[in-house]
Amino acid sequence: MIRIVEVGPRDGLQNEKRIWTIDERVQLINLLSQCGFSEIEVGSFVSPKWVPQMAGTDEVFRSINKNDAIRYSALVPNDKGMEAALRNGVRTISIFTAASEAFTKKNINCSIDESFDRFSPIMALAKQHNISVRGYVSCVVACPYAGDIAPESTAEVADRLYNLGCSEISLGDTIGKGTPESIQRMIQAVSQQVPLSNLAIHCHDTYGTALANIETALASGIKTIDSAITGLGGCPYGGETAKGNVATEKVLDLLDQLGYQHSLIRDKIEEAATFVRKISV
Ligand code: HMG
Ligand code: MG
Repeated sequence: MIRIVEVGPRDGLQNEKRIWTIDERVQLINLLSQCGFSEIEVGSFVSPKWVPQMAGTDEVFRSINKNDAIRYSALVPNDKGMEAALRNGVRTISIFTAASEAFTKKNINCSIDESFDRFSPIMALAKQHNISVRGYVSCVVACPYAGDIAPESTAEVADRLYNLGCSEISLGDTIGKGTPESIQRMIQAVSQQVPLSNLAIHCHDTYGTALANIETALASGIKTIDSAITGLGGCPYGGETAKGNVATEKVLDLLDQLGYQHSLIRDKIEEAATFVRKISV
């Protein structure tokens, strides 16, 4: 069974030029809650000065109709974000860093080592409150500032997140430069440190290779895929090249073509996609 994590309400909307209203975000998540996802990323408790699109994530969290079968998660960059997540009843959080120093600096204004210093108090609170934690590694094969990234660098950061207590590590091809070959080499290196069952693949479709890369990840044994409804979004600190997470609808088609089992409901996905297209016009 392949697990799909829908990241559109966070990784998608964080990059939209027009900031979606709280009500629009809630409507989208309520539609996505009927689609069969195992997890939906609702938003981020980051600085609204850095990512204004994610301001109000607390209100969104409180307003959505939660389905008990789904994990509703949020990104947390520091203890301040973690405290906000706890206040709003979030049970799954994601911490995020990168395999590239340059990207980490642009995205969260610190070095990779400093990002781990910030994670320690978050992890302590997560343990105390029994919160599950996903760790994101961005720029797993390439960085918009530093170019190609060695598989060993990604493996080292993934290993550190896993040893810190993350139950899942999401491997982000943030700028979509991955090819089936580079993705395969990267997964090979990472899986020597972290079990495949604890890995997810997070592809961007900037150059149209996301589906081929996901097919490679599936063949390599990864069973969790991140995607965003209609291919919304990207990373505000990835530049133009980070646009376009892989579209959930395309992932659904791929899984069906390849004969993988999943829990997505096609009619409901189409309904949510129609809503996004209507709102985005
Ligand atoms: P900073 O400016 O270095 O830190 O930001 P600071 O501690 O000096 O804080 C600056 C201001 O932000 C202060 O407010 C803080 O109170 C406030 P002021 O005193 O100026 O009024 N602040 C906060 N406000 C709300 N919530 C918080 C928070 N923390 C501080 N949690 C910081 C450091 C990490 C906060 C900042 O860099 C930040 O928020 N970055 C977020 C960037 C981001 O969200 N990027 C996108 C997500 S990553 C991604 O998309 C990739 C991924 O999808 C995978 C992939 O595709 O690769 C995951
Ligand atoms: Mg992304």
